[in-house]
Amino acid sequence: ALDTGRAAAVREIAAGLKDERGALMPILHRVVEEIGYLTHEDTTVIAEVLNLSEAEVHGVATFYKDFRRTPAAQCVVQICRAEACQAVGANELVEHAISTLGIAMDARADDGTYELEQIFCLGNCALGPAVTVDGRLHGRVTPDRFDAILPEVTR
Ligand code: FES
Repeated sequence: ALDTGRAAAVREIAAGLKDERGALMPILHRVVEEIGYLTHEDTTVIAEVLNLSEAEVHGVATFYKDFRRTPAAQCVVQICRAEACQAVGANELVEHAISTLGIAMDARADDGTYELEQIFCLGNCALGPAVTVDGRLHGRVTPDRFDAILPEVTR
């Protein structure tokens, strides 16, 4: 069912930005920023406001990975798998994270607790393995340290 509160909020964001040049990207960004993620219904509303085809808006929204399609987990963990981090144990760390969190790489736990994402270079190459936890960067993350920096989440 369509969440009318949500649809109204999306419509308002889209209407506010629609006269800008190349309005679609800013609108998508703003929706994710303010509401947290983008649904199929959102793209329908945006298409309506911009007078674009639904397929067009949906295509753009799904093409770019930074437009979330689902609510973020309580804790989002990113692990760098680029070369410098791999050389100092990123792969072992990834295995550890997968077994500790009980989720696959690039997946979100069904209970919404954790989300694990692989990323290619966090700009922290001299201090690998590099990890972010809820956007905060950590360097030299061993499996033990990984366990220590994970926040408690409510299950
Ligand atoms: Fe991992 Fe650059 S290679 S931070």
